[in-house]
Amino acid sequence: MEKMPFREAQTVTDLEAVMARARTSSATTSDWRRALPVLTGSMVTLRELRLSDAPSLLTMLSTEEVARFISPPPTTVEGFERFIAWTHRERAAGNYVCFAVVPHGMDSAIGIFQVRQLEPGFATAEWGFAIGSAYWGSGMFVDGARLVVDFTFDRIGTHRLEARAAVLNGRGNAALKKIGATQEGILRKSFLRNDEYLDQALWTILASDWRLIRDTSSVVH
Ligand SMILES: CC(C)(COP(=O)(O)OP(=O)(O)OC[C@H]1O[C@@H](n2cnc3c(N)ncnc32)[C@H](O)[C@@H]1OP(=O)(O)O)[C@@H](O)C(=O)NCCC(=O)NCCS
Repeated sequence: MEKMPFREAQTVTDLEAVMARARTSSATTSDWRRALPVLTGSMVTLRELRLSDAPSLLTMLSTEEVARFISPPPTTVEGFERFIAWTHRERAAGNYVCFAVVPHGMDSAIGIFQVRQLEPGFATAEWGFAIGSAYWGSGMFVDGARLVVDFTFDRIGTHRLEARAAVLNGRGNAALKKIGATQEGILRKSFLRNDEYLDQALWTILASDWRLIRDTSSVVH
């Protein structure tokens, strides 16, 4: 999602409490609101964000080329720690999930996938993603996207998954097309970035589309 719902200005007074709860909850629970499961692909693992991901996420996501067409990410390790604590609170509230992307053989996160509900109950949801540019074109995006879209339709129960990508974001739009999303239209001047309103493409995947894609696509599965 171009507009990350997290805002740096939000104060998180209970950061340690949130992270302590996260440490004690079971990652194997079937209720994603208690803890996210670990999802394993052929190249990456998706898991709950940890406070220790903050330094690597700062390195991966705060570069100009990654952040150019998305809401400005935090600019400090502490800012990412507040973001990570916020993701846990929003997941526990049932509003939002955020997965860390961890390549096999590594421990630290190289990117994130986010999904937020656009209506109570997650029937319509929006997803977004960002990966460190060193890993662009590696296949890790498609591997992680497949896992998170499966999770959203099969485990959360979403029936319509939206994504917004600035029209100028060639790579983001191509990635969505590649995963099988359908472009429904252009949201004119809908995203404010660097004091300029940008047009965004609206891309969607329906649960029924995804079942077909899963059955037929060699790219996605
Ligand atoms: C979006 C993102 C996660 C995709 O990951 P990725 O590894 O770059 O994706 P892929 O390489 O698998 O797919 C991108 C496709 O765009 C194509 N592409 C690259 N630059 C392009 C451009 N300017 N115009 C059109 N297509 C372009 C690539 O060739 C590739 O297609 P191919 O695999 O058929 O050759 C990553 O680029 C990223 O983090 N970007 C910054 C954050 C962002 O923009 N997020 C998207 C919000 S919607």
